[in-house]
Amino acid sequence: MTEILYIKRASQVITVSGGSQKPKTGQEMSEIGVIENGSVIVEGNQIRFVGSDREAEKYVNTLSEPVTVINAEGKILTPGLIDPHTHIVFAGSREKELEMRLKGAKYIDILKAGGGILSTTTDTRKASEEHLIEETLKRLNRFLQYGVTTIEAKSGYGLTVEDELKQLRVAKKLNKQHPIDLISTFMGAHAVPAEYKESPEEFVKLVVEEMLPQVAQEKLAEFCDVFCEEGVFTIEQSEYILQEGKKWGLIPKIHADEIVQFGGAELAAKIGAISADHLLRASENGIKQMAEQGVIAVLLPGTAFFLMAEPANARKMIELGVPVALSTDRNPGSSPTESLPFIMNLACLTMKMTPEEVLTACTINAAHAINRASEIGSIEVDKKADFVLFDAPNYQTLQYNYAVNLVDTVFKNGKVVVKGGAIVESEESLHQYSSAENRH
Ligand code: NIG
Ligand code: FE
Repeated sequence: MTEILYIKRASQVITVSGGSQKPKTGQEMSEIGVIENGSVIVEGNQIRFVGSDREAEKYVNTLSEPVTVINAEGKILTPGLIDPHTHIVFAGSREKELEMRLKGAKYIDILKAGGGILSTTTDTRKASEEHLIEETLKRLNRFLQYGVTTIEAKSGYGLTVEDELKQLRVAKKLNKQHPIDLISTFMGAHAVPAEYKESPEEFVKLVVEEMLPQVAQEKLAEFCDVFCEEGVFTIEQSEYILQEGKKWGLIPKIHADEIVQFGGAELAAKIGAISADHLLRASENGIKQMAEQGVIAVLLPGTAFFLMAEPANARKMIELGVPVALSTDRNPGSSPTESLPFIMNLACLTMKMTPEEVLTACTINAAHAINRASEIGSIEVDKKADFVLFDAPNYQTLQYNYAVNLVDTVFKNGKVVVKGGAIVESEESLHQYSSAENRH
């Protein structure tokens, strides 16, 4: 018999409902569907009921199945957080770069001198699959403890056919092993590796003619991404790679206008990318074109913070009708953090997004950015039972108490995977959790 999970008496259930068909824009981003004193009922891994405590009680009384009750009093329930942009599979670390940057070195100059992404590439090439899995698991566990239940994961630290495939295979294995769902993106065009420094066009050819077909044939990714930036990949190279990716069924994404204004936002609109990410220097015209084409802006205020740069103009994007999502950009060089809640704080404090907009950006709009909005991103009947119970009396507190972890319980596919802030190793703990609870 399928077990019923009854989460009751939450001080607020933040449903973020009404955005499953298309991402939320403008005023819609502020409509987060708050139910005061709310309950959610789950059957198996799917949401069966969302509503007030009183209605829920009536509904539960009609059920004949066993019910596990979780008392959410004094806490708020939100959809599981979604991170639509990470570079989580890698080896090595780059803490030396902080000292260099504090002394004035620029992030992009470190890369041009053969460091940065290329130093992580050296370490990742040397690493075995097992080592990559071990390292990435630690990062995934931290993500889970911060309330993140789905992430996108990019390749791009291999930069040879075999090493790109290795990274993507690791992500695929981790998707099976870990409660977090990993959605993969092929990003062979993350940097031009040292061996192609003098012949970048040859490297583009390798990406298109050898990497793309193998990635597609092995079904290792759903999206294709390019670091479109001055000194990395040109607009023409980026367009070519993303168009060729499309022919293999890979949906385009772009690292756009991060360091200089380069026309990345315009390119995203032109080729119909699902998202353009970073956008610190995006032009107003580019933003308008993104709005017209419905390209999602995935903003990464943690990267701006860590690189000590001006963040993207989120207010302008929301005003012009671009759907905004948020992400950690988790990577070893420009954003070494798994704390999506801290990124939410930064979105609020450095980009002036409101607490409501921030929640929309980390749930339903993030789900759209990875093409999963029909399954996740909101608390609505028939969606997956991915939730976070935050130890906060209302959702505004999440943005007011900054850089703290208020996550109490994380539910993934209807199972408790984090309890009291700690990872739950076995399913049994779900029963322990509710043993002191009565059904009514
Ligand atoms: O999104 N900008 C390009 N790529 C990553 C950083 C990768 C790295 O520094 O290792 C980013 O910021
Ligand atoms: Fe990135």
